Amino acid sequence: MSETKQQTILIPNRETSESQLYSPFGPLIGYKKLSDELVNTLNEGVDNHEKGSETLEDHSDYLVGKIQEELTFSEHHVAAVMRELIPFIKEYLVASKSRELMVPAELGKNTDINVAVDGAWFVRSFAGDFNPIHTHTDCLLSCIGYLNIPEELEKEWENDSGYPCVGLTQFVFGAPTDSFYAPCHFFIKPKVGDFYLFPASLQHMVYPFKSKGERRSFSMNFIFNLIDKKNKVLTKPQKVLGEYGEV
Ligand SMILES: [Fe+2]
Repeated sequence: MSETKQQTILIPNRETSESQLYSPFGPLIGYKKLSDELVNTLNEGVDNHEKGSETLEDHSDYLVGKIQEELTFSEHHVAAVMRELIPFIKEYLVASKSRELMVPAELGKNTDINVAVDGAWFVRSFAGDFNPIHTHTDCLLSCIGYLNIPEELEKEWENDSGYPCVGLTQFVFGAPTDSFYAPCHFFIKPKVGDFYLFPASLQHMVYPFKSKGERRSFSMNFIFNLIDKKNKVLTKPQKVLGEYGEV
């Protein structure tokens, strides 16, 4: 594994006369655009369930949303997402570790990260549905990917002259001490193909909309193990990236 020592010391670049700005606190948010192929594969699963040609289990017992239908992923849905997104998830983990240590971190030559899925589900929201503020438990990272946005919702957004929150996802972190220098919340406006990765402990919620049509998204929870590639053994279960001085 790499020889990176645990530091967490802010070391500015003193070799330059340029000013520097840092944002060392708070959750890291990852974004990636999903391929059309993956969006289609996942939408097909829900559409087939709707038509009755594929049955997806109800997932709502594990969730807090006031949502019309929440459906558990089939194994092939999990596989399709992981095929596309594992490199990005690893990139996020290494960036998180670099941020924590305040020096660039990298995977050691003999080390790999095993990404395990601990829950994956579709969220099918319709007019009036909403998700109260919550976190995702018993996991480390979570995500949201958007699969369908009703056409009418675009018009609802255009005509909404009030506070922009209709149908949006909001993330909240920390105490509201100073909204300018230390902001504690932000919104995501859903768009088909957008995928966001965030700490499972980060509070978030979704506001209702009035438009006809389906706002469809998916979420997954992740846990991790470090793997010693040579001996093919897990070196530490689950919370490795918070405990190791290296990744
Ligand atoms: Fe959530």
